[in-house]
Amino acid sequence: MNSKDKTPMPASATGAGARPKRLSFLDRHKIIETNATLLLILSFLVVTIGGIVQIAPLFWLENTIEEVEGMRPYSPLELTGREIYVREGCYVCHSQMIRPMRDEVERYGHYSLAAESMYDHPFQWGSKRTGPDLARVGGRYSDDWHLDHLRDPQSVVPESVMPKYAFLERKLIEPTYIEDLIRTQRFVGVPYTDEMIESAAADFTAQADPDSDYDAMLERYPGAQVRNFDGQPGISEADALIAYLQMLGTLVDFSTFTPDASR
Ligand code: HEC
Repeated sequence: MNSKDKTPMPASATGAGARPKRLSFLDRHKIIETNATLLLILSFLVVTIGGIVQIAPLFWLENTIEEVEGMRPYSPLELTGREIYVREGCYVCHSQMIRPMRDEVERYGHYSLAAESMYDHPFQWGSKRTGPDLARVGGRYSDDWHLDHLRDPQSVVPESVMPKYAFLERKLIEPTYIEDLIRTQRFVGVPYTDEMIESAAADFTAQADPDSDYDAMLERYPGAQVRNFDGQPGISEADALIAYLQMLGTLVDFSTFTPDASR
């Protein structure tokens, strides 16, 4: 053993006989650390202030979503397709939100903007990607590809684990409830006009028939694609679903879009 270890400490360092020192910052903090009730009360105060600072401005801001040119409510046919997408649980395997990270942007395209899902009730961001993100799948494949893929995904992507949805093209649909559906969407905040509601059934039919008079529909829903999506007579669920898939991510023109620097 080192003899130095036995050296008694100088009296001043032991505190014996020294004047009582002023409490240092850490000593004072110790009071909080050793008093559970005080710690709880003070933590509560800090969290409350933090919460108010974050939440209170939202009550005065008109809108937290940056407005983006090109965004419009879904056309009646697209909205129907979206209902089928939700009904079939496509969101269980597919997300619709491209994160602002390099790998995602290189694979899927420009990261998703809040405005791009502002008319989605309920939103389809998803939390599971068994299949790829679909936020920008619009225009990536032909209608025929989608039809083949829905009928039998393994016929176009042999290793696919996606289920077959061949029944969709056999199920013909009428716009019986489209007005109610759009009214409901308006009720939760989508800016559908009275005119859009009145012409919903006509617009539904017009979008799936390239021989129809669809100009008024296009004026109401700029950029909507008019085609016989499944190539078969009548409007099937596949028509509606493909109309929806083909418009996903196509409304905002990213060659001219510049994000607001203040956000
Ligand atoms: C069990 C999970 C699962 C479900 C449910 C599912 N998919 Fe898929 N989907 C996949 C997988 C895996 C792929 C990738 C392989 C392929 O292309 O088939 C895929 C691919 C796709 C693609 C091609 C995407 C691309 O960028 O290549 C589309 C479009 C698509 N699915 C649409 C749908 C629709 C619409 C539904 C609902 C009717 C649906 N999926 C339901 C798993 C699923």
